[in-house]
Amino acid sequence: MTRLRFLTAGESHGRQLTAVLEGCPAGLAVSAALIDDDLARRQGGYGRGARQAIESDHVEIVGGVRYGRTTGAPIALAVANRDAGNWGDVLAVEAPEDPAAVAEPVRVPRPGHADLAGALLYDLHDIRDVIERASARETAARVACGAVAKLLLAGVGCRMASHVVAVGAERAAAPRLRLDDVARVEADPMRCADASASARMRATVDAAREAGDTLGGVIEVLAFGYPPGVGTYVQGDRRLESALAAAVFTVPAIKGVEFGLGFAAAGLPGSQVHDVLEHDAELGYVRRSGNAGGIEGGISSGDTIVVRAAMKPIATLSSPLRSVDMGSHQAVESHFERSDICAVPAAGVVLEAVLALALADAALERFGGATVSEFRTAVDAYRAHCLSR
Ligand SMILES: Cc1cc2nc3c(=O)[nH]c(=O)nc-3n(C[C@H](O)[C@H](O)[C@H](O)COP(=O)(O)O)c2cc1C
Repeated sequence: MTRLRFLTAGESHGRQLTAVLEGCPAGLAVSAALIDDDLARRQGGYGRGARQAIESDHVEIVGGVRYGRTTGAPIALAVANRDAGNWGDVLAVEAPEDPAAVAEPVRVPRPGHADLAGALLYDLHDIRDVIERASARETAARVACGAVAKLLLAGVGCRMASHVVAVGAERAAAPRLRLDDVARVEADPMRCADASASARMRATVDAAREAGDTLGGVIEVLAFGYPPGVGTYVQGDRRLESALAAAVFTVPAIKGVEFGLGFAAAGLPGSQVHDVLEHDAELGYVRRSGNAGGIEGGISSGDTIVVRAAMKPIATLSSPLRSVDMGSHQAVESHFERSDICAVPAAGVVLEAVLALALADAALERFGGATVSEFRTAVDAYRAHCLSR
């Protein structure tokens, strides 16, 4: 990301998560309440663990916004960890004076999590240090940044949405999601547009919980009304899919990505895949089938951008998997850390955020603008140009 950059810091049970978002044009109306809406969405969804009952995420805007509008300065955001109060000095910055007060180290890595790879990489003798930062708690900070990016995109007529299309082996019937469906998705505990599939998904989560197991799934993210003409084919790394795929893979546990028809297109003849072109006096060039997922030749077409992501099952199982004690090298059961059974609905909200950031960054790079109105004017001018051709 070149125009819109961000970094996050903070541990899962430390005092707070911190984010700095730089490159947002001046003049964008931003409020903590709007960011909190997305933070609340990230905390929801059927299958979450007990942590979500402890946290009630709230962002504090501590820089870059004055009288409700961005100033062009870096935006600094803080999200407190309420659970930190239950962890005493386990995450203390200063080492305790009394060695007996040092927390018992975690020595047994969870298969499928970052524990073993992280402990070896940073030569850590307490896996707690890995757990704290590899935890998806960090995604709350990115959802806060993403909420700002969504406001920027909304200013040029783009609205992000996501819905769950599979949990474990249960799949939703998949008619294309429309903006009208979004309210129904948000009201569903599984964030699924298909009510009967949602019921089956919840039953499969209940069965996994009962068995001490976990589940993954598939999420579809859509960007309605994203401006055309962003990205390019002239260098591979400037293709819009390249930036969006990279953004998708910043989300922990995401192991696959598809655009438009995605992997299904590989099994179909071209006549059933490629969006035929028409011209409409009001809309200009149109592709009514939308199979390309809003991107052709690495360039946004103005159609809805459709990205699907596959999430692996949660790595922390209450019926532990086999592991190895990193002190004794003895075979033992893996460490259990309070955990989600299924976080697919929440991952959808995180994916919306990271994709909003990548889409806003690419659009800013393409259209420029130190202020929101300069950005909007350039987008409108290009849309008018496309209609005139
Ligand atoms: C929203 C969300 C919530 C998650 N919750 C958990 C969890 O409660 N327990 C867990 O073991 N992994 C959870 N994960 C997945 C881990 O963060 C992830 O598997 C881990 O960081 C290792 O990264 P990797 O799976 O990409 O290798 C969650 C991921 C997301 C996106």
